[in-house]
Amino acid sequence: MKALTFKRYGKSPEIGFAEVAHPSLKADEMLVKVYAASVNPIDNMVPTGIFKPVLHFQLPATLGSDLAGVVTEVGNKVTRFKVGDAVFASIFDLGTGSIAEFAVVPESAAAPKPANLDFVQAASIPMVGLTSWQALKERLNLRAGQKVFIPAGSGGIGTFAIQLAKYLGAKVGTTTSTGNVPLVSHLGADEVVDYKKQEFEKVLRGYDAVLGTVRGDAIEKSIDILKPGSKIVSIVGPLDAAFARAKRLNFVLTFVFGLMSRKIIRVARTRDVTYLFHFVRPDGTQLNEIGNLLETKHIQPVIDKVFPFEQAKEALEYLAQGHAKGKVVIQMQ
Ligand SMILES: NC(=O)c1ccc[n+]([C@@H]2O[C@H](COP(=O)([O-])OP(=O)(O)OC[C@H]3O[C@@H](n4cnc5c(N)ncnc54)[C@H](OP(=O)(O)O)[C@@H]3O)[C@@H](O)[C@H]2O)c1
Repeated sequence: MKALTFKRYGKSPEIGFAEVAHPSLKADEMLVKVYAASVNPIDNMVPTGIFKPVLHFQLPATLGSDLAGVVTEVGNKVTRFKVGDAVFASIFDLGTGSIAEFAVVPESAAAPKPANLDFVQAASIPMVGLTSWQALKERLNLRAGQKVFIPAGSGGIGTFAIQLAKYLGAKVGTTTSTGNVPLVSHLGADEVVDYKKQEFEKVLRGYDAVLGTVRGDAIEKSIDILKPGSKIVSIVGPLDAAFARAKRLNFVLTFVFGLMSRKIIRVARTRDVTYLFHFVRPDGTQLNEIGNLLETKHIQPVIDKVFPFEQAKEALEYLAQGHAKGKVVIQMQ
């Protein structure tokens, strides 16, 4: 079958289409004919090798982790799905990829495709939906009436997380460039800072939580807008020792990640703020609950651009420019 793969880590990963062996299934897995797959910034980072110590692939490896499609084969322990079911899933960190004609999906990672969404819309959701769900609900324990800062409101994560935070009853502050102010306001953001004109840390005050989505010094600056006793959950790093331990990484990596996050943890602590790093994990049960929010239209997919399968590499290049408004999706069917 045809898949978008990379052959090696580093500066010339040789990303391109390849014929790869038709996958075989374990008892708890399903084969899904991929109708659409969305791309995420990490799909461009993986081939550089930056995540090599954390994410394990056998090379050449298929890129992508978000998908929506139709089940064509089930392992003999699969009970919730049957051949012909429309599903969506994240197969992130499972060693396989979704930008292909078929993908292997563990039953535990899949959920029924929301009936009101087409395959392109459904494929746009898993990574941003699960990351936002896990960060806002599990890690930040966001409650009604609290104020959460979600920078980069116009990106894949931002467009989903703003809607989820509003659904949870929170007030949302965000940053975006001038042209995207109407988009993030429409999604429900209460305080919008145009980052081309103002610095958010000089404008926003009294926040209970931050979902860190922008690299660089934005995480440290966000401490200024927080109340004592609040939390930052960063999805862009620095990685921390708690993440390394949860992932059962070796002593050296635990030590290195501990060093990388030492400064931000210390600075945050002096202001009674807790810093945590979060890495998304596939979860079909959570995706099912996210699907319910999409079916009831509490959350709407936001899609910037759809590329045909033949232009999957161009989809990654477009995303890499860093200005997507919502999600970039590849359509196979
Ligand atoms: N740890 C995890 O599990 C996890 C999971 C998912 C994503 N992530 C990470 O989270 C980050 C965001 O992901 P994403 O999918 O939202 O990326 P994305 O869709 O590529 O983000 C693009 C958006 O970011 C906005 N943006 C760029 N720089 C900005 C700035 N300085 N201030 C405000 N907005 C800015 C752009 O708006 P303008 O065009 O207006 O600049 C654009 O709309 C990425 O680094 C990704 O790797 C981590």
